[in-house]
Amino acid sequence: MPFLLPLLALLLLSAAPTVTEVVTAMTACDQNFLNQTSPQIGGILEGGNILDQNRYKTICQTLRDEKIFVTLYDTTNKIPVFSAYKYTGINESARQNQWKIEPQLEEIKLNANMEIEEEGKSYTHQADNKNYINDRGFQKGHLLPQSYGWDIIAKRATFTLTNSVPQVDSFNSKSWSYMESCVKCVLDKYCIDANGKTEGFVVTGARPSNNNLLNSKVNIPSMLWSAFCCYSSSQGAWLASAHWGDNIPDGGRVLQTKTLDELRLELGAPSEAFPGTNCPIHTTVTHLYPQLDKFCKCPKPVSTSVSP
Ligand SMILES: *[C@@H]1O[C@H](CO)[C@@H](O)[C@H](O)[C@H]1NC(C)=O
Ligand SMILES: *[C@@H]1O[C@H](CO)[C@@H](O)[C@H](O)[C@H]1NC(C)=O
Repeated sequence: MPFLLPLLALLLLSAAPTVTEVVTAMTACDQNFLNQTSPQIGGILEGGNILDQNRYKTICQTLRDEKIFVTLYDTTNKIPVFSAYKYTGINESARQNQWKIEPQLEEIKLNANMEIEEEGKSYTHQADNKNYINDRGFQKGHLLPQSYGWDIIAKRATFTLTNSVPQVDSFNSKSWSYMESCVKCVLDKYCIDANGKTEGFVVTGARPSNNNLLNSKVNIPSMLWSAFCCYSSSQGAWLASAHWGDNIPDGGRVLQTKTLDELRLELGAPSEAFPGTNCPIHTTVTHLYPQLDKFCKCPKPVSTSVSP
């Protein structure tokens, strides 16, 4: 009976927990990239091609059949290279549910279910939860923060190990989190197109360290970076900025807002967050900070003038 085989395949497929989907090309979930163009990461992802396809995997981070965001995952270092998301604001109508999220529980639940399926086999190269527990002051730092998720599904989808890196506690909870909050304020207030739709593209990556490992297994990145770009109809212009910081104890530091070009120099050519797009590479959004409210936690501008 010729229909039995596909039926069996379908049954097996639906039985597998599908929180993540591994695909070979970046194009499979490229709606998360501005202009459907993936970032360029020197030596890893160039011109939309993954140079070492055995080592680096594209993961369409999917929950309840919704493709939420995309991650490029490094199976050797067991951390993501970056996660990218099209930010569309927060669904205010769904808001009362949003506060019910319990990160700890969600994390355990989701990770228990999390399997990366590859050619029908479970994939064993990823970091697992026990590699993170209580070790030397690191937290699971999310590259795409849950606070950017459109709704509860999108927020939950960020709680995957493939979206996480070992991040120094105080860095995660202070300067990095302030930066996330500042960028979200800019996205919410300025990244609105002519039809009143919120839309901004966010890419967040980690630079792996040279063999500094957590529990001899998971690479502890030396630096985290993030960039965003959007069209702002109120400003009549494309807006973009970048931030980065070393993965070290925070000590009251402030992550300054930088240009895409400064990020490109920091990451080393030919790396680029938004290649081949209209995103301005020599300007930032710091001029908009005074218009944002104080809860946004945007950095105070660095004064370049000499005090009298
Ligand atoms: C936003 O949330 C409301 C309430 O949960 C839901 O009915 C609506 O479909 C959501 N909108 C979108 C576009 O997801
Ligand atoms: C998208 O890419 C095309 C071709 O590279 C370019 O001409 C266009 O300006 C880009 N659009 C945006 C929004 O960056």
